[in-house]
Amino acid sequence: MKITLSVIKADIGGYVGHSESHPDILAKADDCLSKVKSEGLLVDYHVTKCGDDLQLIMTHQQGEDNERIHKLAWDTFIDCTEVAKQLKLHGAGQDLLSDAFSGNVRGMGPGVAEMEFEEREAETIIVYMADKTSSGAWNMPLYKIFADPFNTIGLVIAENMHQGFTFEVHDVKEHKKINFNAPEEIYDMLVFIGAPSRFMVKAVYHRGSGEIAAVSSTQRLALIAGRYIGKDDPVCIVRSQGEFPAVGEVLEPFASPILVEGWMRGSHMGPLMPVSTKDSTPTRFDGPPRVTAAGFQLARGSLVGPRDMFADKSFNLARHQANEMADMMRRHGPFEPHRLPLEEMEYTTMPQVMKRLEGRFSPLD
Ligand code: F6R
Ligand code: MG
Ligand code: MG
Repeated sequence: MKITLSVIKADIGGYVGHSESHPDILAKADDCLSKVKSEGLLVDYHVTKCGDDLQLIMTHQQGEDNERIHKLAWDTFIDCTEVAKQLKLHGAGQDLLSDAFSGNVRGMGPGVAEMEFEEREAETIIVYMADKTSSGAWNMPLYKIFADPFNTIGLVIAENMHQGFTFEVHDVKEHKKINFNAPEEIYDMLVFIGAPSRFMVKAVYHRGSGEIAAVSSTQRLALIAGRYIGKDDPVCIVRSQGEFPAVGEVLEPFASPILVEGWMRGSHMGPLMPVSTKDSTPTRFDGPPRVTAAGFQLARGSLVGPRDMFADKSFNLARHQANEMADMMRRHGPFEPHRLPLEEMEYTTMPQVMKRLEGRFSPLD
């Protein structure tokens, strides 16, 4: 049975500030999608949140980039924005960059990750959602999951994974893409994906079967809007078990927190802390950045789950380490490397300050 899994998300208003989603917003989204499910367009859905981002996880048989599915998500965000406006939530409708839907939500603000596949005998899926960071945050985890034998022992000892995986990498500034085969091209690939503000892993494929293994959202809101309108707060879908890495191999990268961009005003580096959905409440200095993981088994398109994968106690140490890293980064205050390099900051006063002080600069001797 061919199924499409679409995860479409947007920040349409925060409670309080940018720290959380209001329960009325989630209830409204649930109303919208349950109506459509009963009419048959959706096979199933799950509404959730990661911090201030509303997440629509949907299964259907319409394929990727389908106009009816994208319109459904768009209309749901519009209806939820109305609720956000009523409650005067912060930044109501902030990710909806256009006034009218034009066939596809890509490029209109919301983040999208979609994959179509033949549902396996047992179809295990992990949906990652992050807040206060950008799409490049998935580069290192995806590399570890699908190319690093120190993370994924299956690459070494499982016959059905030994061939490796193909990575589709997007250059979001030049709007170009390229495929790399792991393991033999990993050194070339790392030249690019090690610069995650520009090069992003969009998808991963099994080299033997050609099956889609992972897909991420690669929208860059700042590039779309040409000005700051919030961080991308990306999502990523990973298929697991069988010819794909095991659930434990898929989750393992997040046990060692890394620094990502997007904390406070989209202008700071901070640790990506794995948390339960309940704890996706970026609060300290509007952070630190969070990642949640919703696990599902699919049954003829029905979403059996979610299991809140990072609620597990084995991620306690990672959370502790992330908070220590947060402290260490905060010590730098307005200095790099906590503050992002000038060209990556989402907020800046540089042009105004520079203009005002222009006359006071004199040449070096
Ligand atoms: C939002 C974020 C926050 C905001 C900050 C200022 O993704 O990272 O840190 O940038 O709270 O928000 P505004 O400009 O909406 O008052
Ligand atoms: Mg927000
Ligand atoms: Mg957000």
